Amino acid sequence: MIEIQDKVFHLKGETYSYLLCVNDFGQPEQLHFGPPVRTEDFEGFLCRPGLGWGGSLLLKSGDTASCPDDKSLEWSGSGRGDYRESPLELLGSPTDLRFSSGEIVKTPPMECSLPQSHGGEESLKLTLSQRGLRVTLYYTPYETALTRRCVVENTGDTPVTLGKCMSYLVDIPGEFCMRSFHGGWIAEAHRRDTPVGEAKVVLESLTGASSHRCNPGFLLYEPGATEEAGRVFGFNLVYSGNHYASAQRSLQGLTRVMQGIHPANFRQVLAPGERFETPEAVLCCAAHGFGELSERMHRFVTDHIIPPCWRERPRPVLYNSWEGCGFRFNQRSLLDLAARAKKLGCELFVLDDGWFGARDNDQAGLGDYTVNRKKLPGGLEGLAGKLGLDFGLWFEPESVNSDSDLYRAHPDWVLRDEFEPIYGRNQLHLDLSRREVRDYIVENVTRILDSVPIRYVKWDMNRHSIALGARAHENVLGLYQVLDRIFTPRPEILLESCSSGGNRFDLGMLTFSPQIWCSDDTDPIERLSIQEGLSYLYPQSTFGAHVSAAPHAQTLRSTPLSTRGNVAFFGCLGYELDLKPLLPVERQEIEAQIAFYKQYREVFQFGAFRRTPTGWQVSRGGVTLCGVFHRLVHAAPGYERLRVWGLEPEKRYRVASLTQCIRVGQFGSLLKHVAPVNVNPNGALLRLADAHYTLKVPAEERILSGAALMAGMVLRPLFRGTGYEETQRTQGDFGSDIYIVTEVCV
Ligand code: GLA
Repeated sequence: MIEIQDKVFHLKGETYSYLLCVNDFGQPEQLHFGPPVRTEDFEGFLCRPGLGWGGSLLLKSGDTASCPDDKSLEWSGSGRGDYRESPLELLGSPTDLRFSSGEIVKTPPMECSLPQSHGGEESLKLTLSQRGLRVTLYYTPYETALTRRCVVENTGDTPVTLGKCMSYLVDIPGEFCMRSFHGGWIAEAHRRDTPVGEAKVVLESLTGASSHRCNPGFLLYEPGATEEAGRVFGFNLVYSGNHYASAQRSLQGLTRVMQGIHPANFRQVLAPGERFETPEAVLCCAAHGFGELSERMHRFVTDHIIPPCWRERPRPVLYNSWEGCGFRFNQRSLLDLAARAKKLGCELFVLDDGWFGARDNDQAGLGDYTVNRKKLPGGLEGLAGKLGLDFGLWFEPESVNSDSDLYRAHPDWVLRDEFEPIYGRNQLHLDLSRREVRDYIVENVTRILDSVPIRYVKWDMNRHSIALGARAHENVLGLYQVLDRIFTPRPEILLESCSSGGNRFDLGMLTFSPQIWCSDDTDPIERLSIQEGLSYLYPQSTFGAHVSAAPHAQTLRSTPLSTRGNVAFFGCLGYELDLKPLLPVERQEIEAQIAFYKQYREVFQFGAFRRTPTGWQVSRGGVTLCGVFHRLVHAAPGYERLRVWGLEPEKRYRVASLTQCIRVGQFGSLLKHVAPVNVNPNGALLRLADAHYTLKVPAEERILSGAALMAGMVLRPLFRGTGYEETQRTQGDFGSDIYIVTEVCV
């Protein structure tokens, strides 16, 4: 809700207050962003400069309160006494925007194709102006976060050129570190921490996409903050293109933060009467650590970003053909795979790349969405109806191979500059700012989508570095138009977006696709970092997470099948490996994994997520599921404790571990010490036993109070090299466990 008292504006959520006022000089000044307060409290947050600081420029001579440089501002000018970074650059002119009106309005929709949060009812509209220019700041409060955006309008009679226009600016008092998320292909969202001082910290992407190099979402936290303590702020942008964010601390201890479209080479000419809209940004705060901040961001994304009809709607367990088949398949082999996937418990069969045009490798065919009849003589009809599973299909509509009919017919449809074209994965990027290109994509994709029942689409994009500045922005706007035209009339299709994995994991894409393929890296140990990085800002229901073969295609690491499952459970589970060579014990284990996941699917996908000292946990409806994950084993390990978060101290809970299966082959020549007969570790007998037989570790079960579980329950010992007993956790490298915690009714 929003309250206005004179020139004090109060945006109130369930978990925060965002309080600002317009000062005597017409500048919107930030008073408080933190735990809820009352509007009348505003006086307590006013800063009075007294005799001021030396070296200041004053808007009103002799009045130290008129110095813009030492204030917490909501928007600042340039060349007019605020020496800090300005959110707006008007080429060739200073800016000095002053308040002209503030009112509560019904949340206005975007005028351009930029996506927007949904469910907002009212917004605060602050209008600032100077001669020839109007800047409107929109603030929309939600329960656990608020959004901000800005619209610039040329109210003069000559064109103006914007060189930069951020979505928001905020000055927060305090000392902070930044937590941001970086990486590259197969190594997305790795957490990095940087102190924010007088040297500016900048986050940016210039690849044309939000990028795996630098996710647009980031946090600011008080040094020393933990999962459960300390002030933390979260920021994100509802945008999928080049982005920029900066944070810098002033001598007076204000940390200035701003975020928006990257200004590099950005030029937006506004003719008289024309407007420019920035993407919407999200701001969130918590007083009790990273865990609380993430929970608030998750709730905002679930309720106000992902398409409403997919809000907490269970996602199917899928089988994806890519890692198992690549481009080599035919109708018979796919039907065989589908039958196997169905037997294991999968619900959806996704045919990935390779089904259209001359697409036998990644050098040809991209752009030609006609079914490859050599591989699929019965067409998609011959496949979809016979699978016995729901059907999903892969597309990569934004790019083209130069060896394709599309490129031969329309070589001018690709984004070009005056230099030789440069290729990424043998492809060029289509110019989505052109109407005919957008029409081609919409017509071709919808023709396929309407030809057979397709329940799921994987929308990929593997080519970057497309264009600079305003052209890059126009392309992103073009993409949003295409997605809107295809999927808004088909809300029942589950869209999973992908960009060489998580190269476009952002809130803009999530407004169309409720889930995103986090990474082409399906090695669970790498996924521990990737999914954990994303978990700071995005709920686990948005994570495409698959079990694949070991050794892993991305790392050559071998990991237990149980850990591959246990990590993928904390997302939308899928399987992406050749099912034919699976051993009987592996088939049984996968069947059990899928059955377990289905039993607790809503808890895994939509439960409240926490990072814990030993891994992750999710809770919902009285059930808490804890994942305990290990990387490399240490010899002679000590006791390990399971600390569960968020239980009722007085209540009693049953804790049970998920039964583990131990492959006998794991023991190698050690077997001869325990087996009654002498077994050759490389012999046929052991191979046979390993394929058909596993040691089942009985579940560890206890009943304890919530208080004890929150303090940390001691787990069974890990293997210590002193022998084998059934009840120890015999895991080796990369082992893991799942614990199910349920309330005991007395
Ligand atoms: C990208 C995706 C993969 C797969 C391939 C197909 O790399 O990230 O998941 O779809 O394209 O070419």
